Amino acid sequence: MSLHDDVEEILLDSETVANRVSELAAELTADYAGRDPVLVSVLKGALVFLADLMRAMDLPSSIDLMEVSSYGGTATESSGLVRIMKDLSASIADEDVLIVEDIIDTGLTLNYLLRYLWERNPASIRICCLLDKPARRLAEIPIDYIGFTIPDRFVIGYGLDYDERYRNLPYIGVLKPSVYGGAPPEG
Ligand code: IMP
Repeated sequence: MSLHDDVEEILLDSETVANRVSELAAELTADYAGRDPVLVSVLKGALVFLADLMRAMDLPSSIDLMEVSSYGGTATESSGLVRIMKDLSASIADEDVLIVEDIIDTGLTLNYLLRYLWERNPASIRICCLLDKPARRLAEIPIDYIGFTIPDRFVIGYGLDYDERYRNLPYIGVLKPSVYGGAPPEG
C-alpha cells in the first residue's frame, strides 16, 4: 500500500511545480533587489513551498513562522475565525514582509493575518501564494505573486494535507473519493 494509491489525479507534477517555484524566486529576487525581506509563512502547509522558494531566491532574506488555527469550521473548510497558536518571533516594524502561503481558498485566514501583521507597522507587505483557488473567495486578497490558479478541487501534497496526511507527496494531486468515504470534501 503506497500513499500514491490514494491519489485520483496528479494536478501539478513535481517538475511543473519546481519550474514555477524557480520562476517565482527569480521574480522575487529582482523585485526585492537591494532589500532584505522577511519571509513569513504559516505552518504547516506552506513549509515545503517556503523551503524550496527561499533556496531559489538570491537575497539576504530571513524567515519567521506563525501557526494559526481556525475554529468553528470543519477539517476542510475555513471559518475565518482565527486563533494565533504561534506568533512571530521577532519584530517586523519597518521590515519588508513577504507572506509565503500554500493556498488561498476563501481568503478568510489571510484576511485576518493581513490585518494582524499591518498592526505591527511593517514597511510593506506582499503576498506570494503557490496556489490560488478563486472560485470560493469570500474576502478580497491582493495577491502579488501566484504560482498556479487551480479549479475548485480539494488538493493534497507538496505541504498540503487531508487530515494531516499526504503533505510529503512530491506533487499536487486530488484524492480518490473513497478516501473521504464517498462525499468529496469542500475546500
Ligand atoms: P482560506 O482561509 O479558506 O483561504 O484557507 C486557507 C487554508 O485552508 C490554507 O492555508 C490550507 O491550509 C487550507 N486549504 C484550503 N484549501 C485547501 C485544499 O484544497 N487542500 C488542502 N488545504 C486547503
